[in-house]
Amino acid sequence: MAVNFAQDVTETVLLDAETIGRRVAELGAEISRDYAGLEPILVGVLRGTIFFLADLIRHISIPITVDFLAISSYSPHSSAGVVRITKDLDENIEGRHVLIVEDIIDTGLTLRYIVRTLEARRPASLNVCVLLDRPALRLVPIPVRYVGFTIPNQFVVGYGLDLWQTYRNLPYIATVKREILDGR
Ligand code: PRP
Repeated sequence: MAVNFAQDVTETVLLDAETIGRRVAELGAEISRDYAGLEPILVGVLRGTIFFLADLIRHISIPITVDFLAISSYSPHSSAGVVRITKDLDENIEGRHVLIVEDIIDTGLTLRYIVRTLEARRPASLNVCVLLDRPALRLVPIPVRYVGFTIPNQFVVGYGLDLWQTYRNLPYIATVKREILDGR
């Protein structure tokens, strides 16, 4: 059997590929029902969203548009709330139904910034869809319409989520060993 390239850093598989796939399909069906006739624009927030967005939109059975935002925070986990856009949308969202698609919400500071920024552009509606919600770290309340999974306060990697920009390509989501996090 091939050696798992992440075995030195991961502890346990929190969400396997099948579990993720089932939930993403449910979310896609829900979004398809809720946005029928509205031609929403889905805004993926790079980079963690890549797998989630790609899988989600293939389970959406209505016409949609996809666009991307890239943001950078000046401090780890954006705990200071200082966020800036490094790649803006290409589409004009005024009058459009916008659904922001994020991999994870922790403090909520990143999403607060994105929501405020996009609200100023006068969309017809603005909602948030996250794959993972880690509420233990929340600093600001953010209404999230679609949540894939609520997870405990553990550092996770895979399915788009990184550790030092690596391990995004694991097909599952795993917790990271305590000693790895402590040792750096
Ligand atoms: C992650 C995630 C959110 C943010 C959430 O991004 O994608 O953008 O952190 O944290 P918050 O709720 O505490 O603001 P990260 O900086 O890891 O970038 P990435 O998407 O490129 O992995």
